[in-house]
Amino acid sequence: MERMEINNGDITRLEVDAIVNAANSTLLGGGGVDGAIHRAAGPELLEECRQLDGCPTGEARLTKGYRLPAKWVIHAVGPVWNGGQGKEAEKLASAYRSSLEIARNHRMKSIAFPNISTGIYGYPKEQAAIVAIRTVRKFLAENEWPEKVIFAIFDQENLTIYREILEGY
Ligand code: APR
Repeated sequence: MERMEINNGDITRLEVDAIVNAANSTLLGGGGVDGAIHRAAGPELLEECRQLDGCPTGEARLTKGYRLPAKWVIHAVGPVWNGGQGKEAEKLASAYRSSLEIARNHRMKSIAFPNISTGIYGYPKEQAAIVAIRTVRKFLAENEWPEKVIFAIFDQENLTIYREILEGY
């Protein structure tokens, strides 16, 4: 499906309508890609996030992109991996779907995802990739927007996994 593609690089460099941040429920920043996005966007991003009063796991919130090349940031909160006992797959799918719904509602052309929950939150990368690609593919089959979804992949393991799965489509 040509509406999904891989970008092997730093998501903060992508000139897309929105980049998705793998945030935590406080939306007040953190390490990983969250830290990279806040550093690149500048302090106004945190100021706007402070107004949002957090975000539950599985949901997403929209802010401006400030100094990023991307117009918007969609802050999505993925689940912490808990051995698969706590409906993590449904929560991860919901984080992707909530982000896609925001992009659709704003008729965005392009949105870039990091590999949500697969870093600090410990979600097994192969399982997370299957959930991510299945959720995005289903949403794109049912919706005109966003026109394109980019998987911004930063580590080699995720890159290999995504290439294998996406070659299958
Ligand atoms: N561009 C793209 N991807 C990146 C970048 C970057 N600049 N930096 C890190 N990543 C990738 C990691 O390699 C990983 O594959 O983002 C993916 C998600 O990892 P984390 O950033 O650790 O996010 P997550 O596992 O969802 O944990 C979220 O970490 O940073 C905190 O505040 C955040 O508490 C929250 C938790």
